[in-house]
Amino acid sequence: MNTHSTDTGETAELTFRGKTLSLPVLTGSEGEVALDIANLRKATGAVTRDYGYLNTGSCESAITFLDGEKGILRYRGYPVEELAEKSRFVEVAYLLINGHMPDANERRQWSSLLNQHSMMHEDMRHFFYRYPERAHPMAILSAMVVSLSTFYPELSQHRPDEPEEAINIAATRLMSKLRTIAAFSYKKSIGEPFVYPRHDLKYCANFLNMMFSSPVCPYDIKPEVVQALNVLLILHADHEQNCSTSAVRLVGSARVNLYASVAAGICALWGPLHGGANQMVIDMLEDILASGRSVKDYVESVKASKGKELLYGFGHRVYKTYDPRAKIIKRSCDSVLKVLNVNDPLLDLAFELEEIAMRDDYFVSRNLYPNVDFYSGIIYRAIGIPKEMFTVMFALGRLPGWIAQWKEAREDPRFKLQRPRQIYTGPRIRHLEPEHISSEA
Ligand code: ACO
Repeated sequence: MNTHSTDTGETAELTFRGKTLSLPVLTGSEGEVALDIANLRKATGAVTRDYGYLNTGSCESAITFLDGEKGILRYRGYPVEELAEKSRFVEVAYLLINGHMPDANERRQWSSLLNQHSMMHEDMRHFFYRYPERAHPMAILSAMVVSLSTFYPELSQHRPDEPEEAINIAATRLMSKLRTIAAFSYKKSIGEPFVYPRHDLKYCANFLNMMFSSPVCPYDIKPEVVQALNVLLILHADHEQNCSTSAVRLVGSARVNLYASVAAGICALWGPLHGGANQMVIDMLEDILASGRSVKDYVESVKASKGKELLYGFGHRVYKTYDPRAKIIKRSCDSVLKVLNVNDPLLDLAFELEEIAMRDDYFVSRNLYPNVDFYSGIIYRAIGIPKEMFTVMFALGRLPGWIAQWKEAREDPRFKLQRPRQIYTGPRIRHLEPEHISSEA
């Protein structure tokens, strides 16, 4: 399902060292404009330099639309606010992966497929016992996901002629098993027996049950908690060419299988500048609380550090206004905490931090607003999910986006091995001196 940008027929003229090159002007379906520089190096000998890819469109994609200036986020055209209010996570996952919302029949089929693939090979269960006690669950998650390719080697090569059916099964398997792997890694970390998936429970309820029930104490599945989890996962489900998704596409461009590509995405997501920020936010709030310093004092030290310290959960590469996902999560914080009868001092601290930062010229002038990670941890804590698992929760949510983007790339005839250029700044040619050459064999 590849839709292409439109060639407007216009050109942008680039004059360089006496030569003029006409760059085709393309537009996307929401009117964003791009200059096609595919012939730049061939025609001029020059490449572009764009640290962090601030201006580089690495692909065309019909999955997610994001306008960072206006705070708009849509999956396959549907506003994320509408999906968060009216849909369940598995339906949104289906939408992202297949391009349309499932009808009643497709919903039933998808649900039954997710049930069918929810178990892990029993041998994989033993892997969990070999990790050291302090192993971070993101490391375990990534290793377990790449290990899936050893149990399901039929998809070990991402071949262009791979039957569609094999890809779809791998995608479903991954969607279902990641939830089981995540819950098992938590159970392992607290030394409790694993709880197997149940076919009578829907995706989010099933996950909560695997996390929190035990042979001695069944878990009371509250619909409000299930709903909150659905919303959180929906809000994380895709975010166009972010760091982890770009990692999935880049690794996938070498034609490696879906499991290995997603494992790379999990590693990228782990970083504190990306998905790992949700854990860092809680660390930061806990530190402020434990130190007894005022929020104002903390904000001042961040400013004085000149970029060495960060206000985690603030700022975004693309949003230069309030992250629409943070708005929804902030609203649901209060209601979830009320339902669970939780009074979390970190929520008040977070509100205060936001209020102070939003009145401070340092943050205002740099367009630093709360992002998706700022309030999500407060809800996860209230549900009982420990902070080491927050980024795993993010990965669960982001998985359909990674799958959809990997599939889209694979189906795009223009998709190439991703291999950026560089501007070499090292020493010019030189030769070994006699003292560099050892006489030993
Ligand atoms: N706290 C304090 N200052 C900040 C913050 C922050 N959270 N974010 C950016 N700044 C400052 C920078 O120091 C820089 O200041 P300067 O102009 O004086 O040098 C300016 O704002 C611009 O920042 P950049 O780092 O150039 O912006 P960039 O787009 O590269 O960074 C990023 C985006 C990485 C998200 C950054 O805002 C950040 O590190 N935030 C904190 C970590 C975080 O919350 N990450 C989650 C992002 S959402 C996601 O990935 C799911």
